[in-house]
Amino acid sequence: MPRPYVIIVSAASIDGRIASKTGYSRLSCPFDLKRLHEVRASVDAIMVGANTVINDDPSLTPRYVKASRNPIRVVIDGKLRIPLTARVITNKEAPTIIATTEAADPNKVMQLINMGVEVWVMGKERVDLGKVLERLFTEKGVRKVLVEGGGHLNWELIKEGLVDEIRLTISPYIFGAGTSFMEGIGYPTTMEGPRLRLNWVRVCECGQEVVLDYTVERLNSS
Ligand SMILES: NC(=O)c1ccc[n+]([C@@H]2O[C@H](COP(=O)([O-])OP(=O)(O)OC[C@H]3O[C@@H](n4cnc5c(N)ncnc54)[C@H](OP(=O)(O)O)[C@@H]3O)[C@@H](O)[C@H]2O)c1
Repeated sequence: MPRPYVIIVSAASIDGRIASKTGYSRLSCPFDLKRLHEVRASVDAIMVGANTVINDDPSLTPRYVKASRNPIRVVIDGKLRIPLTARVITNKEAPTIIATTEAADPNKVMQLINMGVEVWVMGKERVDLGKVLERLFTEKGVRKVLVEGGGHLNWELIKEGLVDEIRLTISPYIFGAGTSFMEGIGYPTTMEGPRLRLNWVRVCECGQEVVLDYTVERLNSS
């Protein structure tokens, strides 16, 4: 099945949290933020999970860098929980697709459509992420997707074998609790999870953060 290249870009504390127990998630220095926006400017679509929209309200557009166009914003929201006031809906600088399920409230689907959002029903109870990627590829010409979390969406994509590259910034903080980079039922040992190959490591210009780039080679069990 054809699908776009998928890269997850994230920043975590040294204990692997992408957000604290209160949802605080500002872990990137200005250099790291600029690097993220450079990736945004280089992709065709940016994907996030519902909680990331609810907690952070990102506009998901490239800033601090020159971009020839704004990538499509894709929100994975099985129950259509994101508010109608979310920036990905009200900010019209880029198109937005919300991938949801048959469990979504039909009235909210209509409201979103009337607000200019594309709503894709892509499953009965869970959004079929493989099908979303395939549809982005075939219908929208998307060849590269940036996934910007959160932990649950990252896990679901990894579990389904739908990730090609992971770029993780380790920031000099400790949260001790909160949302992990991957949030799911987990693998019992290293044998069941995906194999990662280190492409490169860089110390950030700030001197305090480390950026790791890995290729996801395969799921061990597949
Ligand atoms: N530091 C960073 O780089 C970074 C980046 C992004 C986000 N964050 C932080 O991460 C936190 C959010 O992470 P999170 O793990 O809680 O949430 P998330 O991954 O953003 O969203 C998870 C939700 O998305 C929906 N979803 C995901 N996959 C689905 C599927 N296949 N089918 C149907 N629905 C699906 C589910 O909604 P339902 O439960 O309604 O089904 C799920 O609860 C925020 O606090 C944010 O600040 C940090």
